[in-house]
Amino acid sequence: MEERIVVHSPTGAYEILIGAGLLRQIGQRADEWGLHGQVVVTTDDIVRDLWAKPILAQLPQGRAALIPHGEQHKTLKTVSALYDQWIALGADRQTTILALGGGVVGDTAGFAAATYMRGLRLVQAPTTLLAMVDSSVGGKVGVDLPQGKNLVGAFKQPALVLIDTDALATLPPVQWRMGMAEVIKHGLLADPELLHPSLRAPERAVELVRRAVQVKVNIVEQDPYEQNIRAYLNLGHTFAHAIEQVSGYAWLHGEAVAVGLLAAAKLSARLGLCDEALADEISVILAELGLPLSLGGLEAEALYAAMATDKKWVSGRSRFVLLDGPQRPRLVEGVPRSDVLAVLEALR
Ligand SMILES: NC(=O)c1ccc[n+]([C@@H]2O[C@H](COP(=O)([O-])OP(=O)(O)OC[C@H]3O[C@@H](n4cnc5c(N)ncnc54)[C@H](O)[C@@H]3O)[C@@H](O)[C@H]2O)c1
Ligand SMILES: [Zn+2]
Repeated sequence: MEERIVVHSPTGAYEILIGAGLLRQIGQRADEWGLHGQVVVTTDDIVRDLWAKPILAQLPQGRAALIPHGEQHKTLKTVSALYDQWIALGADRQTTILALGGGVVGDTAGFAAATYMRGLRLVQAPTTLLAMVDSSVGGKVGVDLPQGKNLVGAFKQPALVLIDTDALATLPPVQWRMGMAEVIKHGLLADPELLHPSLRAPERAVELVRRAVQVKVNIVEQDPYEQNIRAYLNLGHTFAHAIEQVSGYAWLHGEAVAVGLLAAAKLSARLGLCDEALADEISVILAELGLPLSLGGLEAEALYAAMATDKKWVSGRSRFVLLDGPQRPRLVEGVPRSDVLAVLEALR
C-alpha cells in the first residue's frame, strides 16, 4: 500500500499518494483517481519514452501532449503550444491534465492548466526527485521570462499528486543529486531523519520522499500564499540564485543550493546564532552525496552584487533564512555586508 498525505489548501483538500508502482496501477485505479474521462498526459520527450507510453496503454481515453525537455522551454511560447495541442485534442472543462515529468513539466503544464478555459483539473505525477519533494507540492505553477526565472505564474492546487518512486529508477544520477540538495534543505528545516545516509538506500525511497514532502506540506499549509514562513523554504537559496547567476547558469540549481546551505550555516555561526559544528555536519553530508563544498573560485563581490538584486531584499536591506540550530530556521534582516562577504571568501 502507498503512503497518503492529505494537504489542506485554501481551495480545498487534496491527497498526495506515494508508492512504488503507482503509475502501473493507473488503469485499474482510474475511477478512484478521477481519471475515467478524457485525460491528457502532458509530458516532455524524455519522460514520454520512459513513462508516458505505459500509462497511455492503460487509459483508453488518454491522449498525449508534448513539450520539449529542459528549462529553456519553460516559457510562454511552450504554454501557447500546449493550448494548441489541447484544443486539437478537444480538451474542455471535463478534461483532466496529468502533468507527468520533472518540475519543468509540472510548472508549465500546471500554468497552462490553471489558465486554459479558466482552469482544468490537474493531476501532478512528478518523475524527478526534485519534483516529487518540492515542485509538485504547494500549488505554485509558472514559467520563465527572458528577464528572469518564474516571473509569470499562478497558484493552482492539484486535484491529486501521484508519486511513483519507481520513476527514480531511470533518473540520471546528477538529477538524483539535485533533488537530494532540496531533501537536505528540508532535513535542516524540520526533519533530522532526512539527513541520515541510511534513508538514501533505493529500497527506502518511499520513506525518504514521504518525509521530505511532509516538511513542505507542513509549511505551505500554514502559509499557502508565501506571506511569512513559506520563506523558510528559501534556505540556502539567496546564495544559490546568486551562484547560478554569476556562473552564467553553468552551475546546476541543486549544486548551488548545496553550497548555499553551507553558506547559510556558516553565516549563522558567524552571527552567533548556531554552533560552527552545524556547517561541518553539512559538509560531511554534501561530500557523501557528491555535491560541491566550495564556490569554485566565484568572486565574493560579484555574488554579493547579485544577491542585492533579490526582490526580497527590500531597498537593499539583506534578508536571509538562517539557522538558530538544526531544525530551527529564522528570517534575519539587515545582516552586515562584511559578514556575508567573509563567509563567501571562506567558501571560495
Ligand atoms: N513550483 C514550485 O514550487 C517549484 C519548486 C522548485 C522548483 N521548481 C521548478 O522546477 C524546475 C526543475 O525541475 P526538475 O529538476 O525536475 O527539472 P526538469 O523538469 O528539467 O527535469 C530534469 C531532467 O530529467 C528528465 N527526467 C524527468 N523525469 C525523469 C525520469 N524519471 N527518468 C529520466 N529522466 C527524467 C527531464 O526530461 C529533464 O531532462 C525548475 O524550473 C524550477 O523553477 C518549481
Ligand atoms: Zn531549490
